[in-house]
Amino acid sequence: MDSEDSRTPRLYSHRPILTPITPSIIASYRSTRLLALGTDPSAFGSNYNREVVFTDDIWTVRLEPSERRSWITLQGVVQPEGDSDWFAGGEAGVATMTILSPCAAVNLPLAWDQFEKTGLTADWDIFIIHGMWVDPAHRGRDVAVELLKTGKEWARGFDIENWVEGEENQVSGSLGSCSKENGCVPKKRMLALNVTEGNAAAHAFYRKVGFVDAPNVPTPAGQSCMVMEIG
Ligand SMILES: CC(C)(COP(=O)(O)OP(=O)(O)OC[C@H]1O[C@@H](n2cnc3c(N)ncnc32)[C@H](O)[C@@H]1OP(=O)(O)O)[C@@H](O)C(=O)NCCC(=O)NCCS
Repeated sequence: MDSEDSRTPRLYSHRPILTPITPSIIASYRSTRLLALGTDPSAFGSNYNREVVFTDDIWTVRLEPSERRSWITLQGVVQPEGDSDWFAGGEAGVATMTILSPCAAVNLPLAWDQFEKTGLTADWDIFIIHGMWVDPAHRGRDVAVELLKTGKEWARGFDIENWVEGEENQVSGSLGSCSKENGCVPKKRMLALNVTEGNAAAHAFYRKVGFVDAPNVPTPAGQSCMVMEIG
């Protein structure tokens, strides 16, 4: 970190992408995601050439459903909470992350099968982290730590039992109709992700925030699975 950076406090804001998905939200997410794929091609399952041709409709399908959520981290944001026009300029953020709730991941066999095969889904509601990325100029400042905290809170509060396909941005802290009081025992929740083998920074980061290796999960070649209980 240079001397100017260490003297200057940086302000980061981890903004959830909420509906309606506007052209400027798409522009901001697209720029951030393409920057991630271009900067760290070996860290992700997808690649720049595949996503640079995505239409706005495809980005919208990624961003709109309530059962998955993406965040963009903006730097130096001074707008008050409640101002919805965070992405008005459409420029890239300095970090991004997506989390798929089990309601989303269950429909993506590539992401889900590895957990079903190990029997993990019987006892756990699994939230899959996807596309975690911090701009190299902002690494080492706890941006990923804070972004993950934000995502963990969303995953803890996501109302699986009352989730209804097609309803937008449902957020609730309750377990809805499934509770110990009415005889239904909710499953425990975990965050999970696959890391490319040899991605030392990512492994170190996830370990630091409490993830452990899950060697029994049958990942695609060249990847390994890490998990963390979140309650
Ligand atoms: C992995 C990544 C998200 C970490 O982001 P970051 O904002 O720099 O991480 P943080 O500053 O929040 O780091 C927190 C802790 O993670 C660990 N860590 C992060 N980067 C590290 C590195 N390069 N080497 C060793 N440990 C590292 C450290 O323990 C660090 O705590 P410390 O600084 O107190 O030692 C970032 O390096 C990145 O975007 N990498 C490329 C994309 C990628 O690999 N994504 C993950 C896909 S699974």
